[in-house]
Amino acid sequence: MRRLDQVLSSLGYCSRREAVMFVKNGRVKHNGLVLTKADQKVDPHAVTVDDEPLEAPDGLLAMLHKPVGYVCTHDGNEGPTIYELLPDQWLRRNPAVTSVGRLDKDTSGLLLVTDIGPLVHRYTSPKAEIEKTYLAEVDRDLEASLIETFAKGDLMLRSEEKPCLPAKLEILAPRTARLTITEGRYHQVRRMFASQGWQVEKLHRERFGDYTLDDLAEGEWRMVGMTKPE
Ligand code: URA
Repeated sequence: MRRLDQVLSSLGYCSRREAVMFVKNGRVKHNGLVLTKADQKVDPHAVTVDDEPLEAPDGLLAMLHKPVGYVCTHDGNEGPTIYELLPDQWLRRNPAVTSVGRLDKDTSGLLLVTDIGPLVHRYTSPKAEIEKTYLAEVDRDLEASLIETFAKGDLMLRSEEKPCLPAKLEILAPRTARLTITEGRYHQVRRMFASQGWQVEKLHRERFGDYTLDDLAEGEWRMVGMTKPE
């Protein structure tokens, strides 16, 4: 059981002070009964605001179909941010939602967002070796030898000391490929192709671990469940 005002403010509904008004206005119920005090202890799962259950009281995990042109930082100096595509209430949560890793401004596709700190660490830890699949369009015809080059596990990127882990390349069309990597180095896909003399002109992430975009439209988000136990 937790204090109602703390619950509402940590889930981004209002400040603790505003919670008093929420209660006064009869907007908050617990097991269907109108609450009268903002400092009352409650089970967050039994609380409703305006007759709606609280949003993700145990932590929020969602996927966003990131469009090209959006940055994954909170600071808007580099252009529009992915956070502009998410409900404001998510940013008012404490902790606020953040992306699980990042995609470049010029990359589109699947991005997980969450306020569950341990989940960010688990999904971005190099040890986790989560598979991420990208569709890449390149500037000239691909060569079949690239499949082996990326698969061998000895590809060195400029100014790095460790080779990239083996990656799986499928050539889908002369200038289109699907690449699955298990790391998340800075600009990794673009740099892998660049190391072999190809420039990536378009990059889209189709999959992150067990999550795929399916029919989620660009710029849209949807809540997802956790696919692995905590
Ligand atoms: N690799 C890249 O080069 N860019 C991304 O956004 C993700 C992987």
